[in-house]
This record gives sequence, C-alpha cells and structure tokens, in this order.
Amino acid sequence: MRPKELTSRIFLDGGDPQETREIMDLLGFLDGQTTNPTLISKNPEARRRLERGERFSEDEILGFYRAVVEEISGMLPGGSISVEVYADPQTAAEQMLPQGKMMNGWIPNAHIKFPSSDQGFRAAEKAVKEGLRVNMTLCFRQEQAAAAYAATRGAKKGDVFVSPFVGRLDDWGENGMSLIENIIRMYREGDGHVEVLTASVRHLDHLLYAIKLGSDIITVPAGILREWGEKGLPMPGRDYTYNAGSLAPIPYRDPDLAKNWQDFDLSHELTTKGMEKFSADWKSLIR
Ligand code: E4P
Repeated sequence: MRPKELTSRIFLDGGDPQETREIMDLLGFLDGQTTNPTLISKNPEARRRLERGERFSEDEILGFYRAVVEEISGMLPGGSISVEVYADPQTAAEQMLPQGKMMNGWIPNAHIKFPSSDQGFRAAEKAVKEGLRVNMTLCFRQEQAAAAYAATRGAKKGDVFVSPFVGRLDDWGENGMSLIENIIRMYREGDGHVEVLTASVRHLDHLLYAIKLGSDIITVPAGILREWGEKGLPMPGRDYTYNAGSLAPIPYRDPDLAKNWQDFDLSHELTTKGMEKFSADWKSLIR
C-alpha cells in the first residue's frame, strides 16, 4: 500500500503490460507509466517477433505501440501514460505534432513526450494550445526546464511534465539529482503549472532522494520498484542524506521564467544523443 507520507506519484518506466500488472500487485498502487521507443523495443513480444526474423512495417509498429499503451491505460485508468513521438535530431515540429495528436487519440490519459529541443518545444507549444497534455523528455539542463515552463504558459497543473534524466547525467560524471534540486527550486518562483518527473532512475537512492526533494512524479524501472517493494516501501527519513560520491554538482542558475522559451539556451549533447538512440531503437524494429 502507498506509504502515507508519500507525496510524489510513482510511475513505472517500462513497455511491457505484464510488468505493469506485476508491479501493481506488488506495490498495491501505481500512479502511471512512462514509455519510450527503447522500452518498446525491449517489449518481450516485440523481441520474440524480431528473433523469428519478422520485423514490423511502419503501420504494424504503431499498431503494436498502440496496443501496448491501450492495455496499460486499461489497468491505470486514473493515471497518466506517457507516449513518445518519433524524433531524431532532424525531425521538425511539423512532423512531431501530427504524431502527438494521433497518439493522444489512442487512450484518454496520454501525456505526449516531445524532446527538450528547439523543435520539440515548438511542437509542445502548439500541442498544449490544442489541448494535449505533454511531457518534455530528455531534459539535461535547467534552461530546458525553464523553456518547458515558458512554452506551456497557460496550461493547467497536471497537463505538463518535464523529465530530467538523472541516471544519464550521473553516467557522464555530473550529479543528476542536483538538477532535480535546481528545477524544483526554480519552479517555486513560478505558478506551479509544470510538474517535475524524475526520470532515468538507476538505483533506490535516486528514488528515495527524489521523494525527499518532493519531485511531483518519479518514474522507476520495474527492477528498482521490486527492490523497494521487497524492502517494505522504505521512505527517506528526516535524517536521510543522498551521497553523490564523486559526481560533480550542477550549480544553480537563475533563468527568468518570464522570458520566451526561444530565449533560453536549449542545447545539450545528451539531448541530441538521446534522440539518436531513441530513433535508432525504433528503426531497429522496422523492416
Ligand atoms: C522516461 O520517461 C525516460 O525515457 C527513461 O526514464 C529513460 O531512462 P534511461 O536513461 O535509463 O534510458
């Protein structure tokens, strides 16, 4: 059962509905799920099909993704399911937006994931005006979170998530959790319409510290939720401290949330690399 002091919503980070069922049974609650092209490429049914040498056509893979999110949505009708558009570094906003609208039609509780890139923000700005809920993914710097705020000004709380990727920042030597601290601190100056979704969680301490910081949402792979569940859903106590080891802290910056999103420096090597990897994993499924 949900610990009563837990204020964050807990999502499963995965692309397999069977795992969703298992985690719901283990924890006794689940608030939503995030998917992405890499996670869909790891879905066991997709793997089996590829092992038989049968790749998908473009229509078939979209049909497969749709069936997966429909099944998950049926299990989590009151939650949110993030569905990601195809976006490589050359994909224009005009190509992302129609995909987002189509995916939004698959289920009633979708958040559409757009990359935290120039074209991704252009697409998201239009998408929220057309009534879509969005999740700005591949966020690696505070300015991208500021742009997520500015591009979606006027949207209501709950309709916009920003997903800072802590594990991938750790991987390249920066303390990803300090980006979560910085974004939460920055958003205190704002109107609260963007929710912070801690993503790329790699171990139980990422989860515990994100809870302690008050991240609105934390998306967590099944393996870590299993560990958390098996340990009895421990919560970070008053004296809990996060040990970032030798990872370099990311200093707080003070972007002005009143600016236009185009005025922020949005570039980050990991955002570009992330789009390259997601698009390559998606293409690996297609014949
Ligand atoms: C979720 O929305 C993200 O796509 C996911 O957490 C990324 O995790 P990874 O960095 O382990 O691929």
